[in-house]
Amino acid sequence: MHKSWWQEAVVYQVYPRSFQDSNGDGIGDLQGIIQHLDYIKELGVDVIWLNPIYKSPNADNGYDIADYQQIMPEFGTMADFQQLLKAAHARGLKMMMDLVVNHTSDEHPWFQAAKQSRTDPHHDWYIWRDPVDGHEPTNWRADFGGSAWTYVPEVGQYYLHLFAVKQPDLNWTNPAVRKAVFDMMTWWCDQRIDGFRMDVINLISKPDVFADDPHLLEQPNGNSLGLIANGPHVHEYLRAMNKAVLSKHDLMTVGEAPGVTPALALQYTGFDRHELEMVFQFKHVGLDNDPQFGKWSLKHPQLTDLKRVLSDWQTALHGKAWNSLYWDNHDQARAVSRFGDDRPAFRVHSAKMLAATLHFLEGTPYIYQGEELGMTNVAFPSIHDYRDLDTLNAWHELVEQQHALAPEDMLKRIHRRSRDNARTPMQWSPAPQAGFTAGTPWLAVNPNYTDINATAALADSDSVFFFYQKLIRLRKQYPDLIVYGAYTLLDPDDPDVYMYQRHAAKQELLVISNFTDQTLTRDIAKQLSPSAKLLISNYDDDAENTLRPYETKAYLTSER
Ligand code: GLC
Ligand code: CA
Repeated sequence: MHKSWWQEAVVYQVYPRSFQDSNGDGIGDLQGIIQHLDYIKELGVDVIWLNPIYKSPNADNGYDIADYQQIMPEFGTMADFQQLLKAAHARGLKMMMDLVVNHTSDEHPWFQAAKQSRTDPHHDWYIWRDPVDGHEPTNWRADFGGSAWTYVPEVGQYYLHLFAVKQPDLNWTNPAVRKAVFDMMTWWCDQRIDGFRMDVINLISKPDVFADDPHLLEQPNGNSLGLIANGPHVHEYLRAMNKAVLSKHDLMTVGEAPGVTPALALQYTGFDRHELEMVFQFKHVGLDNDPQFGKWSLKHPQLTDLKRVLSDWQTALHGKAWNSLYWDNHDQARAVSRFGDDRPAFRVHSAKMLAATLHFLEGTPYIYQGEELGMTNVAFPSIHDYRDLDTLNAWHELVEQQHALAPEDMLKRIHRRSRDNARTPMQWSPAPQAGFTAGTPWLAVNPNYTDINATAALADSDSVFFFYQKLIRLRKQYPDLIVYGAYTLLDPDDPDVYMYQRHAAKQELLVISNFTDQTLTRDIAKQLSPSAKLLISNYDDDAENTLRPYETKAYLTSER
């Protein structure tokens, strides 16, 4: 059996811009993270994943990098970073960095040179095409709306950007690009970082021939990521990266991989493949998408679909590769509002229920800042309150240009799915601005911070925070079962209850979660051996075959 520290680890994701502002400018920063390392340690996690902290004009909050080896001045300096890394390591916390190498910022010196002339050596570091009949070379659409091509008169060509106009895609077919990226990664490894989370890494290899995207004929508001993903040379590039960099250091790697299936994941992460260690798949966070408007949807995910997707990944990868486990991150709406129930009567129970359901699966769990408090979505009253360019671009296209959705309708969809739901400042205390800043935050705090905050959570032994802490302790206590055990789904067609087992040589775990606000009856006794004991639950007592709203419980059976 393949065993390693990163399989046994739990990761805490920090979105630095929204975590803690230390100097009153309204923007979170590295010194702010240092202030809360003890808090992160208290939760019991092993690794911190930092969203990009590099120099950037912030068209996409740091995912548009202008210099890979400098810190964004708003976040601090390289000395601050060294201090943070040392302080994390001193507490036994590892640090995983974001690696954004599908694209750079258009303000990166490479692109600044590339757009000057066709003969500049950096021109070929990006992806250029001549106009076709005076138009874009293909119909490809960017993930943030609009064409994926932007024209540059100086060179008389279009450049490709799968995301924003200010995020030109790098040309990975050029060996000089690959070498520059690998050298930069080595430089970060030499700073003693512990891993990379690789942004949209399965998009780096583009098709050999550029042709129109047929999918856009049915889905004119879609994007062309599906056409580009998992391109012809992606495995070759990742193996080269592994050989040049990853294999030389003891790292944890996770590749963000939109559109990846379990079969493809085996190619990226198979234990014998020497590419990546895990991928972030997207299937379970796309189940509530709208057929016409994609993520701008009011649909609720169906539990039977969710169980099917998660179970497919569990069984396909077992023994061969490794899963990442997440509900939340900086791109997703808040899990408790989306998969749980954020009404006051149910918020804490459903947040704990989601936590247990995820943490007892096979894989490495990721906790996104505030998830351990049960932080919720926000419903800002106006589009002007939003900062996320994905949200603003969608408003522009769907409301202002196409008149496809009425403003109130789109606002509802934004309340449900905007990335800014995850990006409102971390709720530290009931003090003004949730204790996030002494100034004006770059994105408003969620008004519910007076009730939902870390100070309140730490003062309440029954809080969501301490439930996560307990889940992490159980993982450390029963690694054979909780980390490495095999998985079996029970009652796949039950629309309301998620029930599964994990098995190790002499142990068995039964996990039961009620995903509804109703009291239900299930024959749980029949699944339990007489020696089974309750390991954890989100209610004070065990009502056996009765499942109360959002109840979750796990039983352990050990034969000794
Ligand atoms: C990834 C990031 C997201 C970013 C995009 C473009 O999906 O997680 O935040 O906008 O890539 O870099
Ligand atoms: Ca600051």
